[in-house]
Amino acid sequence: MAKILVTGGAGFIGSNFIHYWLTNHPNDTIVNFDKLTYAGNLENLADVEKNPQYLFMYGDITNPEMVDNVMKGVDIVVHFAAESHVDRSIKEPAAFVKTNVLGTQILLDAALKHSVKRFHHVSTDEVFGALPLNSSEKFNENTAYDPRSPYSASKAGSDHLVRAYAETYGLPITITNCANNYGPYHFPEKLIPLAITNILEGKKVPVYGDGLYVRDWLYVEDHCRAIDMVLSNGKIGETYCVGSMTQDVNNLEVIKKILKIMGKTEGEIEFVKDRPGHDRRYAIDWTKIHNELGWEPMADFDTWLAKTVDWYKENTKWWQDIKNGEYKNYYEEHYGK
Ligand code: NAD
Ligand code: TYD
Repeated sequence: MAKILVTGGAGFIGSNFIHYWLTNHPNDTIVNFDKLTYAGNLENLADVEKNPQYLFMYGDITNPEMVDNVMKGVDIVVHFAAESHVDRSIKEPAAFVKTNVLGTQILLDAALKHSVKRFHHVSTDEVFGALPLNSSEKFNENTAYDPRSPYSASKAGSDHLVRAYAETYGLPITITNCANNYGPYHFPEKLIPLAITNILEGKKVPVYGDGLYVRDWLYVEDHCRAIDMVLSNGKIGETYCVGSMTQDVNNLEVIKKILKIMGKTEGEIEFVKDRPGHDRRYAIDWTKIHNELGWEPMADFDTWLAKTVDWYKENTKWWQDIKNGEYKNYYEEHYGK
């Protein structure tokens, strides 16, 4: 019966993790600490709102008093809270440094003070930089850090701080560096939900540059299970890379798969201006978590992608509320009217 502090639990992965955890560990208590930025949405958790094992606490990880208060009696921290969108980090990097770097350091201080049994930090493969196209190279736990966007640089900073608190103060930490997630409750500013919802709205799908960029797509529930396995059997102080794909699928191929699932033609694709400093390819070697903890994805990309399309078809109000709200201004500014 552990008390788990989930930071950023109202976001995409955090809310999936809370659903996963309440289902699989029904005796644990979860406190969801979230600032409710544009990406935080309590609708993601409407179905668990009244669950006595779950509590939402509004708060900001960059506020030491609030963090100290919420950390009391916590056994395990699972730290998701972050600014997470690369395009926004190019436009406004300051918020990324503040939340991702300073916010993580403030959480680490409080975790140390309150002697938490585990601080699990959720990070990204983007800290490793970019790989060339058409190579068999992959990132693993020993890959040198080489972040190239303000987002990935701020996540790299947070990873370094987490390791420094383990080495310097003995804080019991684990880290996962995972690939691009996709699945339910994914904010429609990211490629897959943007594509699905644009198609449902009868709009074109914007593809950056030549579209020949590769991401290692990880279904969010597979990711949640990976974190669970690291929390129960991972070694303290260790990092685990979590990917999913066994072969490269570029953005254009991802969009074509979605169009096919949805019965549309490739005429719906619109090539738009490329992202500055766009990382060409990410690919993860997930041998360590597979060999040490027995983790592997439950299904392949095509299966999970079809399931994701179904979720967006069945939850139109969820994404329409987002697309008709504050996000509309960002969309029009970023992609044009
Ligand atoms: P998200 O943007 O959907 O959600 C982030 C959440 O953090 C939101 O609920 C937001 O309100 C909250 N938050 C932001 N600033 C905060 C602050 N100062 N104090 C408290 N809460 C704050 O992000 P996500 O996609 O769910 O990503 C979660 C974590 O996983 C992030 O750390 C991200 O770097 C990492 N990650 C994400 C992906 C991905 O594909 N989405 C891949 C690898 C790693
Ligand atoms: P994104 O979902 O923003 O994740 P990340 O930048 O963290 O990998 O983007 C995934 C890929 O899709 C990336 O190569 C950029 C590309 N992309 C587009 O081609 N069009 C878009 O409108 C967006 C948002 C992303």
